[in-house]
Amino acid sequence: MRSNKDQHQQAHESTTSLENNNNHGSTTTTEFKPTHEAVKKTSVTRYVLYFIVYSVIFWVVYCVYLYKTDAAFKQSFVRWYLKTFHHKKSETITEASLIPPASHCVDFATYGAKLPFKKSGGKSSTDYFVFTEEDLAHYNGVGENKKLPLLLAIAGRVYDVSEGKDYYGPGGGYSFFSGRDGTRSFVTGCFDEKKEECTSEQSKYSDFTEEKLQSIKDWIKFYDEHEKYKFVGFVEVKNK
Ligand code: HEM
Repeated sequence: MRSNKDQHQQAHESTTSLENNNNHGSTTTTEFKPTHEAVKKTSVTRYVLYFIVYSVIFWVVYCVYLYKTDAAFKQSFVRWYLKTFHHKKSETITEASLIPPASHCVDFATYGAKLPFKKSGGKSSTDYFVFTEEDLAHYNGVGENKKLPLLLAIAGRVYDVSEGKDYYGPGGGYSFFSGRDGTRSFVTGCFDEKKEECTSEQSKYSDFTEEKLQSIKDWIKFYDEHEKYKFVGFVEVKNK
């Protein structure tokens, strides 16, 4: 085995011999020039080739994704994306829980027809809906809102609970929750429409203890996993 010293010596010698080659006069210098340019040209060509190959791969994968994959696959892809790249940036309950499996969501692509009041969403099978608090207020089943789905929200997450209209419809024991983000009341049990402390700043929960936050997470799990209630999207939460 050669010692480090030998290797170092050899490296030094080869550098010196290169230098010597270069110093043999103008002929040697002109001989080197075209070789150098050729190398430069080859590496540019190689990068162009890389670019073309990667672009082709990207577009093939993208087209397959767009036209061949079903809604369930797309939703699971979006969930994976959010979990991997988006979730790390946020610690709020809303984003931590992400989007439930497609079977527990409304069909985002068609459900929009039932939602005359919304901020955005529904352009594709993975495009969940976003509501302002004012939008959401229409979905409480009262009066002319009877024709609209019954929606409730918790920690900014919106669910269609039309199937539970005996609980959430007008006159039901939990009608208080319909058409609003009632996060605080899910913990406090304060359901009186007439009481200011029950109705104000419902979506604010930053002061909650770990135990209370756990209770909200349990309710989110309840709605996410419920057979009949479906995840619809998010409400813009002004104060967390
Ligand atoms: C923080 C307090 C409470 C909250 C946030 C709450 C919330 C709810 C909600 C949202 C539902 C509807 C579940 C569904 O959609 O299937 C429900 C159902 C029910 N709640 Fe409460 N509740 C509270 C306290 C109570 C208390 C104190 C009682 C009993 C005295 C009670 C008795 C019931 C019953 C009997 C049902 C129907 C369950 C069923 O048939 O599956 N709740 N509750």
